[in-house]
Amino acid sequence: IGVIGGGFVGSTTAQRLAEKELGDVVLVDIVEGMPQGKALDLSQAGPVCGYDSCVTGANDYASLAGADLVIITAGMPRKPGMDRSDLLKINGEIQQKVVSGIMEYAPEATLVIVSNPLDVMCFVAHQVSGLPKNKVVGMAGVLDTARYRTFIAMELGCSHKDIQAMVLGGHGDSMVPLTSTASVSGIPVQQLISPERLEELVHRTRHGGAEIVNLLKTGSAYFAPSASAVAMAESILLDQKRVLPCCSLLDGQYGIDDTWVGVPAVLGANGVEKILEVELNKTELDALQSSASSVHEGQGEVA
Ligand code: LAC
Repeated sequence: IGVIGGGFVGSTTAQRLAEKELGDVVLVDIVEGMPQGKALDLSQAGPVCGYDSCVTGANDYASLAGADLVIITAGMPRKPGMDRSDLLKINGEIQQKVVSGIMEYAPEATLVIVSNPLDVMCFVAHQVSGLPKNKVVGMAGVLDTARYRTFIAMELGCSHKDIQAMVLGGHGDSMVPLTSTASVSGIPVQQLISPERLEELVHRTRHGGAEIVNLLKTGSAYFAPSASAVAMAESILLDQKRVLPCCSLLDGQYGIDDTWVGVPAVLGANGVEKILEVELNKTELDALQSSASSVHEGQGEVA
């Protein structure tokens, strides 16, 4: 398993992959010594934590030869006041270089994209790699849904384990936390939370990334993003066929064409094995389509 980018998201991703023993991990970063140092540190945690995944660090892509899956976290993080789309140009260029490098040595790998602006980076990765669309998938819906579930659980004072919910759309302010299907052990949340309060939780979810950027001041979230990327990687590597909201290329589903956007998908050994087209109410469908059109605009800017 390759992890590109040795920053907080990349290194916590490598840690989680190793702790779950999902495979041997290669952490790649351009900074000399840094991925090697972090990999050595992670290897030395193995005897204490009881994992024996082999973790190595590298500054080149050749060490990815034979990788089954590569998680791409490389890119600049947001600073306070920045929108994810402010990163489009610089991270688009980084993404291009990274994906070409990976494809040279690991042309069979499934790519899990984490870099922002997420949806447009999936578009770039797909274009540059020439991979079939099922082999490129973006991590955002799992993270946004985790935030939404956390906020609902906090509101109700109950375990987040019992909250089922889904956030669709682009990974930006236009994302669509579904209220019609959110439930607590099968009970619609709309029976337990007033529409006004639920709208506040939806708003907090939409700005969940910025809330953390503003608190940290020097970077963005990494614990929940890495956990989310690893949940997706696990479903693919172990062919679990979990149904997770993932950024995928739509060709007609939900009335959306030629756009990378978050939708419920079955993740298995073949990557995105199926996109589930579920019934949404009109407000949600309109919001999903409008979120998709802002991603489509971003795709046009980097095409
Ligand atoms: C976030 C950034 C990583 O949502 O996009 O926290």
